[in-house]
Amino acid sequence: MSGGHGLPVAIVVAYARGGVIGGDNRLLWRLRTDLKRFRALTLGKPMIMGRKTFQSIGKPLPGRETVVVTRDPAFRAEGVHVAGSVEAALAEASRLAARMGANEIVIAGGGDIYAQTLAIADRIHATEVHADIAGDAFFPSIDPSQFAQVTREEHPAGPDDEHAFAFVDFARRR
Ligand SMILES: NC(=O)c1ccc[n+]([C@@H]2O[C@H](COP(=O)([O-])OP(=O)(O)OC[C@H]3O[C@@H](n4cnc5c(N)ncnc54)[C@H](OP(=O)(O)O)[C@@H]3O)[C@@H](O)[C@H]2O)c1
Repeated sequence: MSGGHGLPVAIVVAYARGGVIGGDNRLLWRLRTDLKRFRALTLGKPMIMGRKTFQSIGKPLPGRETVVVTRDPAFRAEGVHVAGSVEAALAEASRLAARMGANEIVIAGGGDIYAQTLAIADRIHATEVHADIAGDAFFPSIDPSQFAQVTREEHPAGPDDEHAFAFVDFARRR
């Protein structure tokens, strides 16, 4: 599979210890500081997400274009673009990026989509949630021979954050 047709592909993810990203098709924590970071990292960009993540959020997020990946040819939802494969989603996202003047394509999850795009991602914007939480959706482990950690910012829990966390950025080794 090719990447973003020339544009960098960035994964944005928050995972707890063991790579847990969700359970029962929802997020398992409330971290207002991380939601703000997610917004800042995704505004003005096309975002690719799996059908389950889209249904978990329930609506397209304003200021972004959402490409929902599904194998269901009948799937429709207001205000989103639908793609039948990850490749088709990347092609649609690069078309949208050109229209929006975006310099990056965002992969917004969930576990199934992360697992299929880690191999073509150029960057990972990760939030490490410092908590042990049981879930049923996971981020794959990041191979240090493939990705180098470029920044790490530790944060104590703010007033509307349930846990302490770190913002960690990785870049693909070339
Ligand atoms: N913490 C975070 O950063 C974060 C971010 C996003 C999501 N999440 C969590 O992750 C969980 C959801 O993840 P998930 O792994 O269950 O589901 P998902 O990745 O969101 O969606 C999976 C669905 O995507 C479609 N799909 C996957 N691969 C495809 C392909 N190659 N071609 C066409 N369609 C494809 C299928 O939809 P159809 O079944 O319709 O065919 C599949 O059922 C939730 O708990 C959510 O809250 C966490």
